[in-house]
Amino acid sequence: MRILLAVSGGIAAYKACELTSLAIKSGHELRVVMTRNATRFVAPVTFEALAGYPVLLDIFQGPEQGAVDHVAWAQWPQVVAVVPATANILGKLACGIADDVVSTVLMAVPDGIPVILAPAMNTNMWLHPVVQRNMSWLGAMGRYRTVEPVEKRLACGDSGPGALASPVDILSTIETAPLRVVAPLPPGATESAAPGTSS
Ligand SMILES: Cc1cc2nc3c(=O)[nH]c(=O)nc-3n(C[C@H](O)[C@H](O)[C@H](O)COP(=O)(O)O)c2cc1C
Repeated sequence: MRILLAVSGGIAAYKACELTSLAIKSGHELRVVMTRNATRFVAPVTFEALAGYPVLLDIFQGPEQGAVDHVAWAQWPQVVAVVPATANILGKLACGIADDVVSTVLMAVPDGIPVILAPAMNTNMWLHPVVQRNMSWLGAMGRYRTVEPVEKRLACGDSGPGALASPVDILSTIETAPLRVVAPLPPGATESAAPGTSS
């Protein structure tokens, strides 16, 4: 399965590394796109080593020079996962804001490609009416599926809902996401180029 992992800037970003490792060991292909803030928590080189592919960090300076990277990257995956999904990226997604590489790629994902959201944040942030409204709004669109955050003692010291679901649970949600049925290619036709892969 081709998985695009979008990492935003929360303390749980390190768990996205574990998810990457699990996914690769399970035989999936995985590409990573990170917000600038996410790189404050985990270095892109960690994902590059785990996934074996350069991380997309900038809309204007991606690894596929000359291509419109955010569109090519958005069209490559069979499933997209946002792990962790910050309050900020959820707000951008709910409002159609595309002002960085992750929000822009997410906006360019074709309809029919499942997008899994794994929010993680402080309990007060998670329970904030605006965040809850954004989650309801995104859920009602039908193209987003949420792996609910779990309740436990958070890195900030608070206890309550907001911790990232386990990477094992997130991977199992990814693996069971309904994949778009693609019509067989006519004889002689080739699949459209995906970034750095032929499958
Ligand atoms: C130490 C630290 C931990 C943070 N953890 C989270 C978090 O778990 N969830 C969250 O939504 N924001 C968290 N933030 C705030 C985000 O980093 C901030 O909202 C940022 O603008 C998110 O940017 P991005 O969505 O573009 O990655 C944290 C900030 C710091 C300094």
